[in-house]
Amino acid sequence: MTDTISRGAANQAGAILNKNAAAEAQDFLPLKGIDHVEFWVGNAKQAAHYYRALWGFTPMAYAGLETGVRDRSSFVMVQNDIRFVFTAPIGPDGEIAEHVAKHGDGVHDIAFAVDDVESAWRETTSRGAVSALDPTEIEGKKGTLRRSAIHTYGEVIHSFVDRSDYHGAFAPGYHRVTQPAPAATGQVLLEVDHCVGNVGLGEMNRFVDFYKNVLGFAQLIHYDDKVIHTDYSALMSKVMTNGNGRIKFPINEPAAGKKKSQIQEFLDYYLDAGTQHIAMRTEDIVGTVRVLRERGVEFLGMPHAYYESLPARVGDVGVPMDVLEELGIEADRDEEGYLLQIFTRPVQDRPTFFFEIIERHGSRGFGVGNFKALFEAIETEQARRGNL
Ligand code: FE2
Repeated sequence: MTDTISRGAANQAGAILNKNAAAEAQDFLPLKGIDHVEFWVGNAKQAAHYYRALWGFTPMAYAGLETGVRDRSSFVMVQNDIRFVFTAPIGPDGEIAEHVAKHGDGVHDIAFAVDDVESAWRETTSRGAVSALDPTEIEGKKGTLRRSAIHTYGEVIHSFVDRSDYHGAFAPGYHRVTQPAPAATGQVLLEVDHCVGNVGLGEMNRFVDFYKNVLGFAQLIHYDDKVIHTDYSALMSKVMTNGNGRIKFPINEPAAGKKKSQIQEFLDYYLDAGTQHIAMRTEDIVGTVRVLRERGVEFLGMPHAYYESLPARVGDVGVPMDVLEELGIEADRDEEGYLLQIFTRPVQDRPTFFFEIIERHGSRGFGVGNFKALFEAIETEQARRGNL
């Protein structure tokens, strides 16, 4: 295979940006944003500690034996507009225990905030979505939470949540954490920028059609495997977005390469389609990455050669190149502006889910100019795991 990614030519070569995508999205499903992401994990108490101590999330609500919930333990962690829920089973049976046994820790639910959970459920199931929860009113002392849900790729679901008549901590069954242990400070993570799904070979277009036809999303960008490949592996990706542009879901599928692609490695260990990474947006990536590194968050490293060629590709990005290199931050530029980004190593034992931190300055892209260097960095890690 030849090297098709060089000097920012990638955008012209094979990444097609649809600037009107959000406007083209259909409005039968108005989504206000991502309400929360729930992870099903083996040990929620220790996960909550990891996200508090290393990532600076504040514990906000808890459900478990002490709150009358008998089958699970859940911790709600917040940072600005990001709300993560970590849930573990407290017994060997049931869907959470089975999910964790099969997949390891992973994303269970990418939940949307809506005004009308009944309409959201009806509009999507009538277009072919499989229901995961019929519209339900959950009564609690602090009001009524309305919720419904549909299935998407793998075992991931999308809940629709209306909390307009609920005034409690998170949901009935949860108690507010009244004296939260102080979260670490110095990092600034503002909101979920995008959530990436990995699906099996030949499945990408099926889920692109799902988000288009069932949820009314439009396609923002298409990267083909001529763009996204290294000497060893390749993938294809299409990015779907909703009507207000706040929700961005890239969908990846593996493509044939000389060796195992990182998408195939994910699928081999997650044993299903699943959420590969979540990008969190910051306006201070340098300060944030510096403190996250000090606290022990593990990021992918980039080789010195990457930074030697970077100025010619991206020009001035407001941060000295030696600082980017010291912290392992990558940069990319397109016709609309630039972005800075960095990726963690997998955050659980299996080489599956990881995080991205992204700082945007005009660019609405996803760092296509970094894909080749990034994938080579990932392949170095795959080789260390004996999976290349
Ligand atoms: Fe990303």
